[in-house]
Amino acid sequence: MSKQRTVYVCQNCGAEAPKWIGRCPVCHEWNTYVEETVSSGKQTGTGSSLNHQPARRISEIRLDESPRNDTHSQELNRVLGGGIVPGSVILLGGEPGIGKSTLALQLALQQKDRTVLYVTGEESLQQIRLRAERLENKNEHLFVLSETCLENILEQFSQINPALVIIDSIQTLFTERIESSAGSVAQIRECAQSLLRYAKENSVPILLIGHITKDGTIAGPKVLEHIVDVVLQFEGDTQHLYRILRAAKNRFGSTSEIGIFEMDQKGLKEVLNPSEILLGLHQENLSGVAVAATIEGLRPFLIETQALVSTATYGTPQRSTTGFDIRRLHMLLAVLEKRAGFKLLAKDVFLNIAGGIRVDDPAIDLAVIASILSSGADIPIPTNLCFAGEVGLSGEIRPVTRLEQRIAEARKLGFSGIYISRHAKIPSSLVKDLEVVRLERIDQLIGRLFNH
Ligand code: TYD
Ligand code: MG
Repeated sequence: MSKQRTVYVCQNCGAEAPKWIGRCPVCHEWNTYVEETVSSGKQTGTGSSLNHQPARRISEIRLDESPRNDTHSQELNRVLGGGIVPGSVILLGGEPGIGKSTLALQLALQQKDRTVLYVTGEESLQQIRLRAERLENKNEHLFVLSETCLENILEQFSQINPALVIIDSIQTLFTERIESSAGSVAQIRECAQSLLRYAKENSVPILLIGHITKDGTIAGPKVLEHIVDVVLQFEGDTQHLYRILRAAKNRFGSTSEIGIFEMDQKGLKEVLNPSEILLGLHQENLSGVAVAATIEGLRPFLIETQALVSTATYGTPQRSTTGFDIRRLHMLLAVLEKRAGFKLLAKDVFLNIAGGIRVDDPAIDLAVIASILSSGADIPIPTNLCFAGEVGLSGEIRPVTRLEQRIAEARKLGFSGIYISRHAKIPSSLVKDLEVVRLERIDQLIGRLFNH
């Protein structure tokens, strides 16, 4: 039997100290140390119980490609890299009310031919049933368990033999082996490791739902993110309809893919053609609007950037963005000022990316500049034009990746012109029935857009 000892553990990052301290030396948070009892034996390690085997040559390791489990959701499949890998542990994090439980229940209801166990520590069985009614989907093989004690949950596993387990949420679980309260670092770590061991030994995938802290990271120790195979972040504005699912870590696929969902009365619907919803619905030309041909993961889509440039009423002009990096906006404004002589010093600048979506693709720069110029001059940009270019510090417009796909998407959606870098290389077959305007620097953009 291992010995018990008392340590103080930072509830923010999981750092340990032998005595209480006010400020964590690792993550610099105040008042996060809590006394916890841990067993000092070796039984908590993940490596200890996985079947013992000698080291092997890499070429001798058999690759039995275990088929992935289809989630029956194209968006979820895409983010996971093609479905759920048997025995994998997936952590799904997101703000309260964003739709984590809804997404998990929809996944559970779709697994028609397999036994699924949904463990809830947050809601009653009736609430889950009600939500399932609302989603208008049935699955006779779905079991729901309202339980927070890990030992009882493992006991149910051996009775039901689930093919997929959902834990809502990991912060509500506790194990009797440790004395600290549910949600503490030691409890989360211990419970997650036991579940991980079960998943690997029985090849059963487990989806853990996790809360996030106020700064947006998943609550609990960092080790939680290290031990799971996939970390998914569900984000978006609860005010907006659209929700974005991203993989922050994926041992079985790319982390650049995103899945887009729309929340309506009957749960989360997939958005398979994002361009159609991300382009504004107005028909008439408005100033301050420019369309960017952007790419997230492998998917090209067109998205509207909206800028409002107005005279600053107070001393310091305001700059504010949604969906775009504010520092990047500052940089683009400085470039506009210096290289294009655009006086923005006494102007407030607001920038929005449509639909509450965050875009990190640098190709959106040119559309951002165009929307700011358009709002500043109060001249609309024709709605059939779009932009794809990165803007450098000297005002040069740089080519961007995968331009063919962006142009193809613009053509598909009926755009008649695209502004790109002069140095971009594209096959000439692509440019028929679409006017491609090649620019060297942003001052040429002003000339092209507004002076004819
Ligand atoms: P929920 O899945 O409970 O969020 P989380 O588990 O991340 O806290 O869902 C939250 C919101 O979604 C809730 O405010 C209600 C809304 N919702 C719908 O709009 N339509 C639906 O069909 C469902 C099930 C929920
Ligand atoms: Mg929930």
